[in-house]
Amino acid sequence: MGPLDHVGIAVRRLDEGIARYQLLGLGPESIEDLPAEGVRAAFLPAGDVRLELLESTRADSAIATFLERRGEGLHHVAFQVDDVREAIASAEIAGFRLVDREPRRGARGRLVAFVHPKSVHGVLVELVQPPTSRER
Ligand code: CO
Repeated sequence: MGPLDHVGIAVRRLDEGIARYQLLGLGPESIEDLPAEGVRAAFLPAGDVRLELLESTRADSAIATFLERRGEGLHHVAFQVDDVREAIASAEIAGFRLVDREPRRGARGRLVAFVHPKSVHGVLVELVQPPTSRER
């Protein structure tokens, strides 16, 4: 697993989340709708890492469910991997419970897969394949 790519934070309102982090000196680099996930995501660079603020756009989205159960806050941490399919296979062999056994197309066009929080001490882990590798 490579360096930390981003930290996902669930917010009720993206505009309010962005405004709050702007007070801390972080501005959005991109805002993107992911209709398949029912999510709108804003990426805020903080050095080499980004914050991904996540707003639900559908009542039945994973973020809506998360906000209902846990409220706003830390949702996932994402690590870069060279090859997401290989990373999924290694995680499975190592005994991790996977949310995705096949990569899906995530924010910024990257191939991603999630590892279940139950097998990572309560933290949802996202594996992100950077666009420089062969899937791009
Ligand atoms: Co993410």
